[in-house]
Amino acid sequence: MLIAQITDIHLGFERDNPGEMNRVRLDQTLARLASLDPRPELLICSGDLTDRGDQASYERLREALGACPIPYVLAVGNHDLRGPLLTVFPETPTSGGFVQYVHDQGPLRIVVIDTLEENRHAGAFGPDRARWLDRTLAQAPNRPTLIVLHHPPVVTGIDWMSLVPNESWAPRLTEVVSRHKHVVGAICGHMHRPITAPWAGTILRICPSTAPQVTLDLKPMDLERPDERPLIEEEPPAYALHQWTPAGLLTFYARVEDPNVLLRFDSGFQPVLKHFEEERHHEPAYPGESHAGPMRAAPAGPVSPFGFQGRIGRLPFWLTMLGATVVGTAVWLGGEALVPALGGTAFTLPLWGAVTWAMLLAKLAVIWPVLAAAAKRAHDRGRSAWWLLILPVPLVGQLFLIIDLGLLRGDAGPNRFGPAPKG
Ligand SMILES: [Fe+2]
Repeated sequence: MLIAQITDIHLGFERDNPGEMNRVRLDQTLARLASLDPRPELLICSGDLTDRGDQASYERLREALGACPIPYVLAVGNHDLRGPLLTVFPETPTSGGFVQYVHDQGPLRIVVIDTLEENRHAGAFGPDRARWLDRTLAQAPNRPTLIVLHHPPVVTGIDWMSLVPNESWAPRLTEVVSRHKHVVGAICGHMHRPITAPWAGTILRICPSTAPQVTLDLKPMDLERPDERPLIEEEPPAYALHQWTPAGLLTFYARVEDPNVLLRFDSGFQPVLKHFEEERHHEPAYPGESHAGPMRAAPAGPVSPFGFQGRIGRLPFWLTMLGATVVGTAVWLGGEALVPALGGTAFTLPLWGAVTWAMLLAKLAVIWPVLAAAAKRAHDRGRSAWWLLILPVPLVGQLFLIIDLGLLRGDAGPNRFGPAPKG
């Protein structure tokens, strides 16, 4: 699943100029996104949608987005005003007066939050918003969740645009998100520059802007000494593509430009690509290294029904239980019927021992895959297989088996037992 993100559009920077540079840059970006193959399923606009928060600029934004075939959702930035935005985009959900809501997109749960305090450049995230976010994240603890916001809650090093360490709204937000391990990432804007940072136990991706970019300059700034350094540059508009995969969220950044192509996939280069493909299916030889065998990552593909490694989802778990029940019942009924059929008096039959041993082996053959499936389901829930020792406990053990292993969703994305199972 592919999601596009644009940010910091700043429509209306040139007051009363409907054909302003920022509109041209927005239209170029939307045209590029619409031409992508595969086309993104959703477009997230992460704030600073307009420059002054005026209704006319929101109307121009609606017109531009309406011409793009990709459905969109909006977040607010420091240049936005909620009233005019909601007048022009009344379908945008709110809660408690803030532009904060949940948007379900395929397997991803997208939680849009509001870091705006109107007429303030820096971010804000008060206690009411923190409680809403905590409650909202707690409602779906097993769904992979992506947070959308405008202001990066991290220090970025570009002095004049960055959070400063004593801003209290950011630790409040960080503390809430840190408690929810199913948050698979956060995406934002504001910096007009692509940046990636660790944050709250996940990865924060800062998207470059469609409006002109902020100069990449990490030299500390002395506000008492203007040094003529560049601050804003007319780089091409840019966007992000977020791809949800079984291994987690991949993010790509791209500029809207037509670069010189240096190499194409033509018949001349085809043999090279075929060689690359062939090579990928063979282990490296590691010449000059002590050869203890290549280290392999945990398998992402199908796992053995008899193995205790890796993770499985709920469907293979229940299929194993069903299969074990059917085979186990057949073995039991077969054994019960076999003894009288062989002569009626089991204790006198010379085959008694053989029948008993055959039934014992058959039972073991049923129990083994059941234990293996339960262990792999426990792994999928982020638990060690040692948790299965709870199973013999009356009532509690059976409830654990049915609810935790049978009904609850596994960890979103990879965990310490391997990648998430497919499907
Ligand atoms: Fe901005």
